Amino acid sequence: MTVLVTGGAGYIGSHTCLELIAQGYDIVVTDNFCNSLPEAVNRLKTLSGTDFPFYRADVRDADAMDGIFKNHEIECVIHFAGLKAVGESVRLPLMYYGNNIASTVQLCEAMKRARVKKFIFSSSATVYNGDNDMPYTETSRVGDCANPYGRTKYMCEQILRDVSAAEKDWSVVLLRYFNPIGAHESGQIGEEPDGIPNNLMPYIAQTAVGRREYLPVFGADYETPDGTGVRDYIHVADLARGHVAAIRYCKQYTGCDEFNLGTGRGTSVLELVSAFEQATGVKIPYRIEARRPGDLPLYYAATDKAAKVLDWRAEKTIAQACADSWRWQSRNPNGYKA
Ligand code: NAD
Ligand code: UD1
Repeated sequence: MTVLVTGGAGYIGSHTCLELIAQGYDIVVTDNFCNSLPEAVNRLKTLSGTDFPFYRADVRDADAMDGIFKNHEIECVIHFAGLKAVGESVRLPLMYYGNNIASTVQLCEAMKRARVKKFIFSSSATVYNGDNDMPYTETSRVGDCANPYGRTKYMCEQILRDVSAAEKDWSVVLLRYFNPIGAHESGQIGEEPDGIPNNLMPYIAQTAVGRREYLPVFGADYETPDGTGVRDYIHVADLARGHVAAIRYCKQYTGCDEFNLGTGRGTSVLELVSAFEQATGVKIPYRIEARRPGDLPLYYAATDKAAKVLDWRAEKTIAQACADSWRWQSRNPNGYKA
């Protein structure tokens, strides 16, 4: 089976490409490099020993997408391409709606023209309403998102549900990622945020490598065991396997279904710092600062549905994720830049 991966040069897309190749899938990859570099694609080809077709194209470019569907017998699309920085989405909402919503709609249009009917979408735990009970299950309330980025994911979910209601033979899977961390065990590919990292693990890793002076800990007065925020950190390699499980599901299912991809366990900011120090032997200086606006104290995934229906579970530990993040960061202190 040939799978089109949009945004395949990015963090989660690149790891998923490797897993797809390892599981025997043919891949075709597209990315416009608005948040990634061609070096990621070079490394994917070297690591996998495969010269898969790559197209530098914007998913919103209908001619480019039609060309890809014409050149390859694509059966399934995994749509990673999108913008994901929460703060930026507050400053530049039109850019977020313009990219995330339009790319999803245009991609569905191109798939319809090419009669491709399997669609796997990168959604996020951010679609859940913050006042749900823990853990978030797939039936927890969604919507009322805290920022434009979250709203684009919520709206894309609604759009895809409507598309699948109209196109009865489509199979749409919405994967709600919790907090992806870690890197490929080779240390050759990993997360490369542009500028100052927003997310915790890249901030820790850049502090460890000396690019940041200290880690700001956003709040230590939450109602959590140590007062710092608690999240469900999932190794990106586990997440990548989740996409392969979703493809298997698409083969025998039509409609639109959603799954949490998380571990089911919460880890606090200070627990992650301590796990990183233990796994790497590197001390992380940190300072307690004010809470970050819009942050929730605690959330984590219910994982039963993915386990039961997709036969998928996260397997890697936080310690492995820390060691892998560090291998990537220490061998590539400036990411993919020379
Ligand atoms: P990323 O920025 O590393 O990867 C996204 C890739 O898409 C980039 O390489 C970028 O250049 C490309 N891209 C963006 N818009 C495009 C367009 N219009 N046409 C072609 N390429 C385009 O992000 P990631 O962390 O790998 O996330 C992948 C997906 O998963 C995103 O949709 C993101 O919103 C979602 N997600 C990520 C997280 C996370 O914490 N990383 C959590 C939940 C959901
Ligand atoms: C953030 C986004 C969310 C997105 C997710 C994954 C916000 C409000 N939410 O979620 O929409 O889906 O990333 O990309 O930005 N922390 C620090 N210091 C730091 C960075 C983070 O203490 O320098 C803390 C945070 O307060 C939080 C935890 O670490 O408690 C995790 O933060 P982060 O990695 O940004 O993920 P989320 O807040 O879950």
